Amino acid sequence: MNQTKTLHLHPDADGIARAAALLAEGAQVAFPTETVYGLGADARNGQAVAGIYAAKGRPSFNPLIVHVPDVDTARALVEWTDTADRLASAFWPGALTLVLPLARGHGLSSLVTAGLETVAVRVPQHPTAQALLNAAQMPVAAPSANVSGRISPTTAQHVLDGLSGRIAAVLDDGPCPVGVESTILSLAGTPTLLRPGGLPAEAIEAALGTPVSRDAGDAITAPGQLASHYAPGATVRLNATSAQAGEVLLGFGKIKGDLTLSASGDLAEAAATLFDALHQLDRTGKPIAVAPIPATGLGAAINDRLKRAAAPR
Ligand code: TXA
Ligand code: MG
Repeated sequence: MNQTKTLHLHPDADGIARAAALLAEGAQVAFPTETVYGLGADARNGQAVAGIYAAKGRPSFNPLIVHVPDVDTARALVEWTDTADRLASAFWPGALTLVLPLARGHGLSSLVTAGLETVAVRVPQHPTAQALLNAAQMPVAAPSANVSGRISPTTAQHVLDGLSGRIAAVLDDGPCPVGVESTILSLAGTPTLLRPGGLPAEAIEAALGTPVSRDAGDAITAPGQLASHYAPGATVRLNATSAQAGEVLLGFGKIKGDLTLSASGDLAEAAATLFDALHQLDRTGKPIAVAPIPATGLGAAINDRLKRAAAPR
C-alpha cells in the first residue's frame, strides 16, 4: 500500500468492474458520491479497513460510514426501526447517514465501528457509487478520501493530491454535486443530529414531524467532529466583509471575493463549490478570510465545516 501506482479509472463498465475487483482483493479505492469522494474498502475485511486508516493517517478510534446499495442491504446490518424506515423512504438514496445499533451477525469488521455497538450506514445516490456497490456485492466502508484532518475531496484530482501512491485506484466521475458530507443522524435513542450535512436538518424534521436533538453531548462518539477538521494549511478567518492585507477572500452573495461561493447567494451552489474553493485558496499559501454565510438549510453544514477549518490547531 505504501508505494502503489494509483489507477485513474473511468466510470464505465470496465472501470467499475476493475474497481469492484480491487475491493474484492482488499484494496482501497476512491469513488464519487453525491456528497464527497469516499475512500472505500470491504467493510467485512479487517485488513482492508486497516488500509483505509493507514492511507488517510486517520486515528483508529474514528469509526467509518458503511455504504450499501439499497435499504434491504442496510436492514441486514442494523437493528432497523420505524423512524429509520420513515427517513429511508424519504431520503435514501441520498445525503443522509443513519447511526443504528448493530444487528446480530452483521459481519462487519470491528475496525469499521471502532468498537462501538452502533454503525453508521448510508445509501448514496450517485450513479457511479450505486454501480460500484452493486458490482462489488459487499458493504463498503468509506470515509472521505482525504488525508485525515484535511479538506474533503470533491474531485478526483483532490483525492490524488492527498492520496496518490497510497491507494489502489480512484474512479473519476467529475465534481460531486452536493459538495459537503452527508448529514449524520443517530437513531440509537432520541433522534440526534451528529453532523449537519448535505440534507438540511429542517427536511428531516419535516419528514418526522418533530424536532431532532442537536445536542449530541459527550456521550455520543462522533470523533470526526474533532474541533480542527476539514482544515486547509492556511489560517482561516470567518465573517469577514473584506480582506485584510495579505489575505485572500472567499466571498458569498454580495460580498465578492478572490473566489465567490455563490454570487446569487444560493446555498446549494455554495455547498457544491465550498471544498474546491478552499483547496484553491489554500494553494495560494495566504491566510483565508471568509464572508458570512446564512446558517439556515445547507448553510448549517457550510458554517460547521468553516468553523472547523478556522479552529486553532
Ligand atoms: O458524505 C459522507 O458522509 C462521506 C461519503 C464518502 O459518504 N463520508 C464521510 O465519512 O464523510 P467520514 O468518515 O469522513 O465521516 C464519518 C463520520 C465521522 O465523524 C464519524 O465519527 C461518524 O461519521 N461516525 C461513524 N460511525 C459512527 C457511529 N457509530 N456513531 C457515531 N458517529 C459515527
Ligand atoms: Mg471526513
